Amino acid sequence: MNGFSELRLVQEAQTRSVAPLRHALLTFCEALRVRGDAVDDIVTAAGEALANAVEHAYKRQPPGVPTVELHARFERGDLALDIIDRGTFIEREPIPWRGFGLRIMRAICAQMTVDTSDGTRVRMHFSEVPLKVNDSH
Ligand SMILES: Nc1ncnc2c1ncn2[C@@H]1O[C@H](COP(=O)(O)OP(=O)(O)OP(=O)(O)O)[C@@H](O)[C@H]1O
Ligand SMILES: [Mg+2]
Repeated sequence: MNGFSELRLVQEAQTRSVAPLRHALLTFCEALRVRGDAVDDIVTAAGEALANAVEHAYKRQPPGVPTVELHARFERGDLALDIIDRGTFIEREPIPWRGFGLRIMRAICAQMTVDTSDGTRVRMHFSEVPLKVNDSH
């Protein structure tokens, strides 16, 4: 595919926002003919980041309406995903039975960065995303 495709969404950082954002990302990937197993990985990783924004970001200072943003940009076979909130990243020792989200995200994507300079921006890169071979189904 030439050029790029982009999805940008903003929702309230509420539990009920996670599923619609995941579904929108799934539809975006399917429209780009991303292979099913790769769609599963992308949506799983995004879901963990979205859940973190909803659960953790606004515990310390709710600045007006808490938001979570999902940006997806597909260009030349690579996908960049940003999950953005305006809250405060909470550094802490992992709770023994928790702390899987960031590990799952790191395991799934090719590269991940967490920028906490202004809210939290989790960026995940997926390189050479596999596409469906046969366009007939
Ligand atoms: N968007 C965020 N805003 C604030 N803090 C965050 C954010 N994302 C992650 N964190 C911090 O990083 C920690 C680790 O996140 P991670 O997703 O790995 O584990 P968890 O959310 O605590 O548990 P689990 O994902 O297993 O349910 C969180 O407990 C939280 O302190
Ligand atoms: Mg988590």
